[in-house]
Amino acid sequence: MTSLPSSVLVVGSGGREHALVRALLASPARPRVLCAPGNAGIAQDAACFPVAADDVPGLVALARREQAAFVVVGPEVALSLGLVNALAQAGIPAYGPKADGARLEASKIYTKEILLKYGIPTAAAAFFDDAAAAIAYVRARPAPIVVKADGLAAGKGVVVAATHAEAEAAVRTLLALHPASQISNLKSQILIEDCLTGEETSILVVVSGRDYVILPTSQDHKRIGDGDTGPNTGGMGTYSPAEVVTPALLEQIDREIVRPSVDAIAAEGIDFRGTLFIGIMLTPAGPSVLEYNTRFGDPETQVVLPRLENDLLALLWAAATGHLRGIMLKIRPEHAICVVIAAQGYPDAYPKGDVITFPPPQSGVTFIHAGTTKNTAGEIVTNGGRVLGVTALGPTLRQAAASAYAACDALQCVSKYFRRDIGARQLTRR
Ligand code: AMP
Ligand code: GLY
Repeated sequence: MTSLPSSVLVVGSGGREHALVRALLASPARPRVLCAPGNAGIAQDAACFPVAADDVPGLVALARREQAAFVVVGPEVALSLGLVNALAQAGIPAYGPKADGARLEASKIYTKEILLKYGIPTAAAAFFDDAAAAIAYVRARPAPIVVKADGLAAGKGVVVAATHAEAEAAVRTLLALHPASQISNLKSQILIEDCLTGEETSILVVVSGRDYVILPTSQDHKRIGDGDTGPNTGGMGTYSPAEVVTPALLEQIDREIVRPSVDAIAAEGIDFRGTLFIGIMLTPAGPSVLEYNTRFGDPETQVVLPRLENDLLALLWAAATGHLRGIMLKIRPEHAICVVIAAQGYPDAYPKGDVITFPPPQSGVTFIHAGTTKNTAGEIVTNGGRVLGVTALGPTLRQAAASAYAACDALQCVSKYFRRDIGARQLTRR
């Protein structure tokens, strides 16, 4: 393998990117780490540049100007817009798929077609661009039923409808909100699929063509409220490992889902080099694919990376340059938890600019920044819906959770909100 890059630019501004920056800085190769646009926490660790994550020409110019030898892309929007294609044209290697691979996240219909074509387990589905036909289909299926908009919708494009009436309303709303599916170039705009039941797990796979390694397992908590109630969010907390994914189940997931997915993507002519994040429902009939994402998860990354003993820079560089074969992961036995601190009101309207006062550092606990910035007085203030991820490692999940929650309680911010039950499902299972 070629020698490791001496400088790396991380694109994005969330908790995922802060976790990536931290892990890259821990590389024995001691790279210079840059970030665009970053946040107030990332700026304490790495040089940040005010270039937006969707400004493809701006990011290419920045990478050139700062002589970044490698770019690691966080968010999906940049990938869909072809950031990695543009960097390749400029001769800059990057970790993350090109636009053809990013379509696996950007178009749910495209992904469903691939899953069905290659016989990968997933819920039965049909595609529509017409309300009357979609509603006729809904009426002929049992409720609950799931209605999804085709394109990227920041978590707002999926409705799990408990009743037929709710499903019909969702059909009308989603068809009206997503009139043209530009990314997918498909005629259909929504898909309607059977509702699956079970626990969800996030399987993050570092892929390089037909080679891959599976990162430590994790589970997210998508709803805003304790006990999985209220609206969906980007993710309110995670833990790793997800013990519900036993070694035997992980082997089944690998055999029935990961290997076939990687092979299907390659067979479609896509040279995928990046993270394939497979959202899986563990149904009574076996694991079933809910979705592909083509990037690291947020807040999954915050619990997965601290458990990885490997040099992240070496791992991502190997994937980006086609040298992943033979690399084995070393996973720490500790449990990791991330409790997301959000601004009260999220995922709807929430305040910005509230001062955050951090408690003294505590061993094993890390404040990963997401929506933070500095005000004119130089104080760190809230600047987004998900503000921080309080991440802790411990010999057991219970100990990790106790450390993280002590830090959540000690942190001061008038608008802080967090779930009290991150990890509870796993803690009460035994
Ligand atoms: P997606 O973006 O497609 O993963 O959907 C977002 C969330 O909606 C998932 O994490 C699930 O909680 C839920 N969901 C999606 N599809 C289904 C399904 N077929 N059955 C049950 N829940 C689903
Ligand atoms: N935490 C879910 C996601 O990153 O999509």
